[in-house]
Amino acid sequence: MEDAAAVAAYLEQECGIDAIHVTRSVHLRDEFMWAPGVTHGGFNAPLVSEIKRAVTVPVIAVGRFTEPQYAELLVKQGRADIIAFGRQSIADPELPNKARLGKLEELTPCIGCLLGCVPNMFAGKPITCALNPCAGRESELTPAAVPKRVAVVGGGPAGLYAAWACAARGHQVTLMEKEDEPGGSFRIASYPTGKGRSRRPSAA
Ligand SMILES: Cc1cc2nc3c(=O)[nH]c(=O)nc-3n(C[C@H](O)[C@H](O)[C@H](O)COP(=O)(O)O)c2cc1C
Ligand code: SF4
Repeated sequence: MEDAAAVAAYLEQECGIDAIHVTRSVHLRDEFMWAPGVTHGGFNAPLVSEIKRAVTVPVIAVGRFTEPQYAELLVKQGRADIIAFGRQSIADPELPNKARLGKLEELTPCIGCLLGCVPNMFAGKPITCALNPCAGRESELTPAAVPKRVAVVGGGPAGLYAAWACAARGHQVTLMEKEDEPGGSFRIASYPTGKGRSRRPSAA
């Protein structure tokens, strides 16, 4: 930590940098470069504060930020100047617009599963996201040539997303689910400690 703070101060004084973006870990020692879902947004904050004490230029924090409210709080507290959303921007690139419009209940939070983004990158494939199948394929979500009436049977994650994608393309969708609540196996998957984001973004 002390070395990183000294390097940051040197970069400011000797190289004239305008801002510094603070992340953590290196590939050889992979300590939460992509932190898992059980970590809370801002787990890097104490380290970022140390860097902030060493420089006067704006300091950017990153790491498991999924909630704009918490990002805003850290900035208000003066613990960082700018917050970067990494995987959250893959899971839901509409976060800034939803925050601006006060539609946080519509936010899809990154659950830190590392199922679609990082492994695909290492495999040399286009990245995708377990919670956002449209990631990287946004241009395919075009208006349907002929709007139809579509029935989707099953309100698990796949059914919900299929229903959403059909509606986004202009189809008239009827979603059928035998349980009282939609969500399928994600409802059960959300029970273990640290998995709450799978179910309720704002309560995680
Ligand atoms: C698919 C993917 C590719 C990334 N590539 C880079 C990279 O090339 N260089 C880098 O410094 N960080 C890279 N990162 C790390 C992010 O910048 C960020 O530090 C990290 O994902 C933690 O933030 P998050 O929890 O908000 O995702 C990448 C992250 C992801 C998910
Ligand atoms: S696949 Fe999606 S939800 Fe899972 S860690 Fe990557 S960005 Fe987050």
